[in-house]
Amino acid sequence: MPDSRFDDVQACVFDAYGTLFDIHSPAEQARDKLDDKTRELSVIWRERQLQYTWLHSLMGRHADFWEITGNALDYAMKRVGLTDPALRSRLMELYLQLSSFPEVADTLTRLKESGKKTAILSNGDVSMLISAAKSAGIYGLLDEILSVQSVGIFKPHPSVYQLATDRLKVPASQIAFQSSNAWDAHGAASFGFLSVWVNRGGQLPEHLPAGPQAEITTLTELPELLGL
Ligand code: LAC
Repeated sequence: MPDSRFDDVQACVFDAYGTLFDIHSPAEQARDKLDDKTRELSVIWRERQLQYTWLHSLMGRHADFWEITGNALDYAMKRVGLTDPALRSRLMELYLQLSSFPEVADTLTRLKESGKKTAILSNGDVSMLISAAKSAGIYGLLDEILSVQSVGIFKPHPSVYQLATDRLKVPASQIAFQSSNAWDAHGAASFGFLSVWVNRGGQLPEHLPAGPQAEITTLTELPELLGL
C-alpha cells in the first residue's frame, strides 16, 4: 500500500548483504563438502562477521570487510569442526559471486524507470560489492556503490549513512533506505532516512531506538510503497 511519507523520495539506497545478495548462497553452493553443516556454518559465519564489524568499530580499529569476512569464516569453520584450506578459499571466492534475490533486478529497473536514483550503501569493500553486483547482473542498474571504506567505520555509525546523503546530494528525508537487517534499518531511521525493513525471514522486531517507517517481506513491495 502506498505510504504518503514516501511521496518525495528521490533516491532508493540499499543494504547489500542479505538485502540484495543472498549471503547463504556460498555455503549452499559448497553443500557437496559441507553436507549437514551447510546452514550451521553459514549462520555462524554471518553472525560472527556482523559482530566483528561492531567490535572493530567499538575498538576504533577499522579493517576491510574482506578481512573480517575471512576471520569470521575461520571462526565458523572451527566451530563446526572443519579444517580445509581449499574449502575456505572456495567459500571466500563464492562470496564475490553472490546470487541476488529473484526480484532485485526487476525492482531496480522499475525504480530507475520512474526516475529514482539507486545505490548500494554497505559495509562491503568496493571491490567486493562491484564483483557481486556484476556477477548478479545488477551493476548497470545502480547509480552509486557506496562503501564504508570511505569513512573508516562500520554501520550503524551515523557517518556511514551520511555518506549517502553527501554522495547522492539528496537530503536524508528524501532517501528510502532498504535493509533486511533490522539493526541496520534502525540505524538508518535513527540517522533520518525513511527506513524500510525488508523482513525476508519473518524475524521478530528488534527492541532498539528509532524503528523503521515500513516493513515489507521482499523488494517486490517497494515500488507500491513509494506510490509507483
Ligand atoms: C551490509 C551488511 C550489513 O551490506 O549487510 O552493509
